[in-house]
Amino acid sequence: NFTPNAFVSEMVAELKEKLQDDKVVLGLSGGVDSTVAAVLLHQAIGKNLYCIFVNNGLLRKNEFQNVLDQYKGMGLNVKGVDSGDRFLSELAGVSDPETKRKIIGRVFIEVFDDESHLIEDVKWLAQGTIYPDVIESVSVKGPSATIKSHHNVGGLPDYMKLKIVEPLRMLFKDEVRRVGASLGIDPELLGRHPFPGPGLSIRILGDITPEKVRILQEVDFVFIEGLKSWGLYDKVWQAGAILLPVNSVGVMGDERTYEKVIALRAVESTDGMTADWVHLPYEFLMKISNDIINKVKGVNRVVYDISSKPPATIEWE
Ligand code: XMP
Repeated sequence: NFTPNAFVSEMVAELKEKLQDDKVVLGLSGGVDSTVAAVLLHQAIGKNLYCIFVNNGLLRKNEFQNVLDQYKGMGLNVKGVDSGDRFLSELAGVSDPETKRKIIGRVFIEVFDDESHLIEDVKWLAQGTIYPDVIESVSVKGPSATIKSHHNVGGLPDYMKLKIVEPLRMLFKDEVRRVGASLGIDPELLGRHPFPGPGLSIRILGDITPEKVRILQEVDFVFIEGLKSWGLYDKVWQAGAILLPVNSVGVMGDERTYEKVIALRAVESTDGMTADWVHLPYEFLMKISNDIINKVKGVNRVVYDISSKPPATIEWE
């Protein structure tokens, strides 16, 4: 019997007591968990919370600027660090999914570490870890966890020597959303689909180039905006587009084309552990496929993923 208001007042008091006048650094991702953690901490310690939002160059279209503006509008003390070129150059030529994740994890830590050293006398690292992350990282020993190395938990190196504060670590996702609502966070932000830390890198199968990122950002934008305008976004647990490493033949006018293939994925799930593909209306799929092919240069074919998890994971990599 969870009451968000009581949680907020108790947690704010607890954080004040624990953190006193110490400075705290927190990495914002644009997602629900880190945002709720930040707003909660901001209520407790105000300006002593230093937020860092890193652009890894693999976010959704316009996401870095939009989310940064939104955070500033919420009164958070946030610094946007645009490291897109650095991530993309480190990823150049890399096709293996786990290598991509490792590179992104490492570069993120390097950027974050550099940035937090600029904050004089920072004592604490805050994280938006929630209960399922805690469970998942405890079971990391098991065979399933090594299938994909998620880097949400425990990702920072010891030499940072910061004490860890995780105000959401006892909460489930729906409780985090309710806490967020009671803190007055924009319902649209709270209703966002999950988005993986390595971003679009694991939705570009094969190697990553700036041009592929651009294509996928455009396609993803058309798909997600389409879901919203058709009233389907909130009926889907997670959706995204995948850029396949194959070209297919098409015709345009009397020209033959040989261009990229896109797969669309939309799933229903409660926790991401199992998932079913969503029966999106044919009319919607028809419209979206036309929009993608007409609007995004370099794509001439769209397919829809009708695989459930297990065995097909939500992401293709
Ligand atoms: P899979 O593909 O394993 O995804 O069925 C389950 C959920 O986890 C997300 N995911 C990740 N999140 N880092 C993350 O932060 C990752 O490396 C990663 N891989 C998958 C995926 O988007 C889905 O919500």
